[in-house]
Amino acid sequence: MVAASQTTGEGWSSRTAFILAAVGAAVGLGNIWRFPTLAGESGGGAFVIVYIACVFLLGLPLVLSEIFIGRAGQTDAVGSIRRVATQSKASPGWSIFGGIGALAAFLILSFYSVVAGWVLYYAGVLGADFVQALLAGDPFRGALAGESQAQIQQRLDDMFANVGLLLVVHLFFMGLTLFIVARGVHAGIEKAATILMPIFFALLVGLVIYGAIEGDMGEAMTFLFTPDWSKLTPAVMNSALGQALFSLSLGVAGLITYGSYIKSDGGLGPTSAMIAMADTSVALLAGLMIFPIVFSVGLDPASGPTLVFQSLPFAFQTMPGGALIGFLFFMLILVAAVTSSISLLEVPTAWGIGERGWSRTKSAAIFGGGAFVFGIFSLLSFNLWSDVRILGFWDIFAETNIFDTIDGFTGKIMLPVGALLTSLFVGWKADRNLVRTTTGLSPAMFGLWRFLIAWLCPLAVTVILVTGLFPAILGS
Ligand code: TRP
Repeated sequence: MVAASQTTGEGWSSRTAFILAAVGAAVGLGNIWRFPTLAGESGGGAFVIVYIACVFLLGLPLVLSEIFIGRAGQTDAVGSIRRVATQSKASPGWSIFGGIGALAAFLILSFYSVVAGWVLYYAGVLGADFVQALLAGDPFRGALAGESQAQIQQRLDDMFANVGLLLVVHLFFMGLTLFIVARGVHAGIEKAATILMPIFFALLVGLVIYGAIEGDMGEAMTFLFTPDWSKLTPAVMNSALGQALFSLSLGVAGLITYGSYIKSDGGLGPTSAMIAMADTSVALLAGLMIFPIVFSVGLDPASGPTLVFQSLPFAFQTMPGGALIGFLFFMLILVAAVTSSISLLEVPTAWGIGERGWSRTKSAAIFGGGAFVFGIFSLLSFNLWSDVRILGFWDIFAETNIFDTIDGFTGKIMLPVGALLTSLFVGWKADRNLVRTTTGLSPAMFGLWRFLIAWLCPLAVTVILVTGLFPAILGS
């Protein structure tokens, strides 16, 4: 046994607890909202296959690398990288990517909470609708009975126009995240994950079965798993790679931070593989939950970010039990979002504790409060400030509102830069014996992992970064 995190003294109570928390961090809006949106827009199968390849060839080696740094460093991301660098006789200056990661996590949290707020609102609307159905003695009726499709779609626009409402749900979600993180690793994050993740899986399996019975599973399978290679443009490969990083929570030192709370010894290889497999399975299951419903009522799979908010409530209206199912569906997304947002807040919070010496409550309050305030800029991009272009001088952001600019800047630039520096540091600088003993990889697995992290990751991630920054290269 090695001592718990040296600066915070905190740790997971078991390996299972760590895996649940890490899977909880990985599984989020990225799986249930972003993945189906991108798969739908990119034509399905070909995107899905590239995404899966990216998860296992690039994502998995990076997951292992981040957990390794945290496990070996035993403190916040910056301190952990510094310690591994010192032990490996590399420059402590590498720790800068821990700082960039903490900043990226803060920025992602700011808009993640805004989207989670929309989910909260929809969970409330459908929850109230279900209560009405119950009171009317018809618990298995469709959702939002009596509303036309136009009215259902109008709800989203009305929500976007209602700044007060958006602020309230954003505040509520961020407050919940802050509350959990302030309670600590064991009593807050671990407890939330061990209670919420089983609920999440039960809901997910139930909803997939419902989709299989009530929806068009055959067409969904064809759409998701039959590749039409003509749709595989460089832009689609680029978004599949980016999605793999986002979904596995890579590039912002999140898994360094969670890895630093591992107290027990034991191989990190199988643990990392479980995290990657669980995250990918959830994304695919989310596709198998959403697309059968989409196809059975003839909705357009390529309707983009509003698919989940505008299209599905309409589908729930025409399906038996839709009021209940619609409510459960948004609760599912909400649960997934909470276990992810706490991981985002934990990265800067651990930095404040480890590098600044703040108390956990103070650090969580500073960054949670800060992300709430900063998130307001994203929130206003859907109404009052829809015309503001903060990075308008930069061609790739010339047309994007504040929300899309922060999303694009973190996703297209900060995550790949973080992943690139991680792979270079662990692949080339970290002491190989330290890596071997900490990860417990067999010689063969170590060789394979090292090839992927030292060669394939830097190359592939550089390609994403360059094509993301200079879309002209892709001819789009
Ligand atoms: N992976 C989460 C999702 O799919 C989001 C998330 C949590 C994240 N922590 C992260 C994304 C760190 C990038 C980096 O919703």
